[in-house]
Amino acid sequence: MKTRITELFGIAHPIIQGGMHYVGYAELAAAVSNAGGLGIITALTQPTPKDMAREIARCREMTDKPIGVNLTFLPSFSAPPYPEYIRAIIDGGVKIVETAGRSPEQHMPQLKAAGIKVIHKCTSVRHSLKAERIGCDAVSVDGFECGGHPGEDDVPNMILLPRAAEALKIPFVASGGMADARSLVAALSLGADGMNMGTRFIATREAPVHDNVKQALVAADELQTRLIMRPLRNTERVLTNAAVEQIVAIERDKGAATTIEDIRHLVAGAKSRRVLQEGEMDAAAWSCGMVAGLIHDIPTCKELIDRIMREAGQIIRQRLGGLLAA
Ligand SMILES: Cc1cc2nc3c(=O)[nH]c(=O)nc-3n(C[C@H](O)[C@H](O)[C@H](O)COP(=O)(O)O)c2cc1C
Repeated sequence: MKTRITELFGIAHPIIQGGMHYVGYAELAAAVSNAGGLGIITALTQPTPKDMAREIARCREMTDKPIGVNLTFLPSFSAPPYPEYIRAIIDGGVKIVETAGRSPEQHMPQLKAAGIKVIHKCTSVRHSLKAERIGCDAVSVDGFECGGHPGEDDVPNMILLPRAAEALKIPFVASGGMADARSLVAALSLGADGMNMGTRFIATREAPVHDNVKQALVAADELQTRLIMRPLRNTERVLTNAAVEQIVAIERDKGAATTIEDIRHLVAGAKSRRVLQEGEMDAAAWSCGMVAGLIHDIPTCKELIDRIMREAGQIIRQRLGGLLAA
C-alpha cells in the first residue's frame, strides 16, 4: 500500500509505533521497522543524551530499516537538555523525529538543518495547522480515544480526522483507538495517510514490558480506562487499577482545587516503570487507550502488521468492493 506517509518515510506499510515512555526501547522499534512499519524509540526514557545515543546504536544493530525517535516536550520547569538529545539523534543518523507535548517550534531549525523529517503528534486541528505552519512534514492526529494525553478538547477520531483532512495540506496519520485492519481502512477513509498505534504495540511479543502488562491488555475491555489529571489540565487516559481508583477519588473530593502534590505519589512518570517493567499492576497510573477492548492476542510485530495489511486488502477489495457490486 502506497500513501503519502509510506513515501515520506520510506517504509513499506503506513503503520507507525508511537513513542511510549518505558516501552519504546530499541527492541520494539527495531521489530516494528523490520516488519515494514516505522518503529520509534522514546528519547526521554533514556536518562541522558548519551544513553539515547547508545539506544540508537543498539537499535541500528537490530535493523537497517528507517527508525524514528520520539521527543516529548514536557510541561515541566526542569526541562531535559533537548538540544543535546537532538544532537544525539542527528549523530546517530536518525532521519525521523516524532515530536509531542508542546510545539517543537523552537527546535525546528536544528532538526531541519540536519535533514530530519518531523511528524508532530497533537490532539486538535488548530495545533495540527500550527505544526504545518512551522514546517513539520506530517502530523499524527491523536483522538480522544487515545492512550496517554488526549488533550482537553475531547474530540473523537470520527470527527477529528475528517476535520484534519479538510484543514491540512501535509500528510497525517490517525492516532488513538487504532488496532487492526478495520482501523487502518477507516482511518484512510476519513482522509488519513496511515495510522499510529501505541497501546496495541505493547501487547506484542517483542515489546520489552512485563508479561503481566500484556496479559492485562488482553483481559481489559473498552470500559476500563479512566481519565486522570483533568483538574490539572494535563489529562491522561490510563488503565484502571488500585492507584488510579485512589487518584479518581482524590480528584472527586478536591475537584478543581486538586494540585499535583495531591496525586504526585501515584502518577510520577518514574512510577509507571514499576508497572511496565516490574509487572506490579497496582503500583501507579500508566497510559492505556480504550483500544484495549480490541486487543485479544499477543502476536509478534510482524504477525500483527502482516495481518493488518492482509485484512485491509480484504476489507477494501471484498467487503467494500462487494457492497458496490451488490
Ligand atoms: C504506555 C504508554 C506510554 C506513552 N508514552 C508516550 C510518550 O512518552 N510520549 C508520547 O508522545 N506519547 C506517548 N504515548 C502515546 C502514544 O505514542 C500514542 O500516541 C497513543 O498510544 C495512541 O493511542 P492508542 O494507545 O489508542 O494507540 C504513550 C502511550 C502509552 C500507551
